[in-house]
Amino acid sequence: MTATQFMPFFDIFLRKKINILSRIIWSYDSSGVQAKKHFGSMYEPILFGVKNKKNYTFNSKDILVEAKTGSKRKLIDYRKEIPTVYNSEKVPGNVWEFPRVRYRMEEYEDHPTQKPIALLERIIKASSNVGDTILDPFSGTFTTSFVAKELKRNSIGIELQEKYVKIGLRRLNIAEEFNGEKLEKIPKTFEKNKALIKNTPSLFT
Ligand SMILES: C[S@@+](CC[C@H](N)C(=O)[O-])C[C@H]1O[C@@H](n2cnc3c(N)ncnc32)[C@H](O)[C@@H]1O
Repeated sequence: MTATQFMPFFDIFLRKKINILSRIIWSYDSSGVQAKKHFGSMYEPILFGVKNKKNYTFNSKDILVEAKTGSKRKLIDYRKEIPTVYNSEKVPGNVWEFPRVRYRMEEYEDHPTQKPIALLERIIKASSNVGDTILDPFSGTFTTSFVAKELKRNSIGIELQEKYVKIGLRRLNIAEEFNGEKLEKIPKTFEKNKALIKNTPSLFT
């Protein structure tokens, strides 16, 4: 069962324990082969929940996005005596558009479900403050810890598979080697080809 299929059950389980304030859809562009016999999945669900709904962190000012109007002009309140431009920024709604992490992207690591840095930035900025500690019990490539560090938060990351722990150790500059193995990012095919071209003597000198 994928996380998307599992989410309705998790939602029912979780809502008895915490207050779910938003059900967010992370919507992304399609890539690769799409389903042919049903509608392919183009999103992942995210639950935003808090223990105490009268006292929780939500740094709305740190995550503002442009309030798009659908037209080129600014959103104007014509009901005012002198027409006034509305605030052009807003707190994001519950449908978030971030591209998936692709092979050619700088942040790409070798993991099938790596989350984009931009997605974690929004989540961490909104729900924590500098110096707070963030837990990600399914860390994968440790994007959560990577972003937490950038944003001066502490983090605890847990990951089952050694190959991903090694990525985390390198990505977070915690270690340069693991059990005698040097932890280096594997060059991408186009990077290797570029190096090859650079090092190949030219025929036209
Ligand atoms: C969806 S991925 C997380 C991707 C991560 N957010 C990133 O940006 O790379 C889930 C990860 O949880 C790990 N995992 C699965 N079961 C686990 C368990 N019981 N304890 C720790 N990690 C686990 C998997 O190996 C996988 O790398």
